[in-house]
Amino acid sequence: MQNYPSHIAIIMDGNGRWAENKNMPRTYGHKKGVETLKEIVKAFIEFGIPSLTVYAFSTENWKRPPKEVKYLMSLFSKTIENEAEELNQQNVQINIIGRRNNLDEKVLKNIEWIEKLTENNNKLELNIAFNYGGRAEIIDAVKKMMKNPNIDLNNINQELISKNLYNPNISNIEYIIRTGGDKRISNFLLWESAYAELYFTDTYWPEFSKNDLKKALDEFTNRKRKFGALDNGDDL
Ligand code: IPE
Ligand code: IPE
Ligand code: MG
Repeated sequence: MQNYPSHIAIIMDGNGRWAENKNMPRTYGHKKGVETLKEIVKAFIEFGIPSLTVYAFSTENWKRPPKEVKYLMSLFSKTIENEAEELNQQNVQINIIGRRNNLDEKVLKNIEWIEKLTENNNKLELNIAFNYGGRAEIIDAVKKMMKNPNIDLNNINQELISKNLYNPNISNIEYIIRTGGDKRISNFLLWESAYAELYFTDTYWPEFSKNDLKKALDEFTNRKRKFGALDNGDDL
């Protein structure tokens, strides 16, 4: 494996437009999007990339028509039920990151079930951002810290904030891939992606393939990452 990122985040965008272009309902695109994710999970395992975080439903996606929201909720829940066994066999650890307070009982139960089922797996860490917002995550982390009597103001640092995010073990994002043509972050992983490299492709998520992923990975290997320092080692 040639210098590939160890943690990639994907904004799986373009499902609706892909379906509309085919004169199909937007929901058809969401359904096909699940198939793409299954293929991409396999590709991650094949390429030996240990962590993947995907954006499945944002805190802003509640603004969509109730019918689409309802479909996405049920698709998420059913996908957990249908895919848990295979993901477990593939040694994939699933973490769902996002707000849980306004999800319904059935969805919550499935979330807790798949997390428990896969908690000891270690081939691929798959974080699924569902009812997730980057700002909501930071707000929730601050609330958690303020409720903890053992935390002193003077001890607040990057590590402590990271430990209070939805997944306390989440590592820094090295690469964000967004499909669907738009060039924005849409409230994804604001804390974790501070120094992530960004990659945008016009390909709609339902059409995104292992080859497209390979292309994105190859581009990453040519990026020069500096983290605020100088890249030539010179002191001024
Ligand atoms: C991404 O596809 C999936 C979700 C946001 C749930 P979209 O549904 O945003 O598809 P477009 O961007 O409208 O094509
Ligand atoms: C981002 O896509 C959220 C997900 C992919 C789940 P959106 O389609 O919601 O983002 P905007 O509205 O184009 O910024
Ligand atoms: Mg979209």
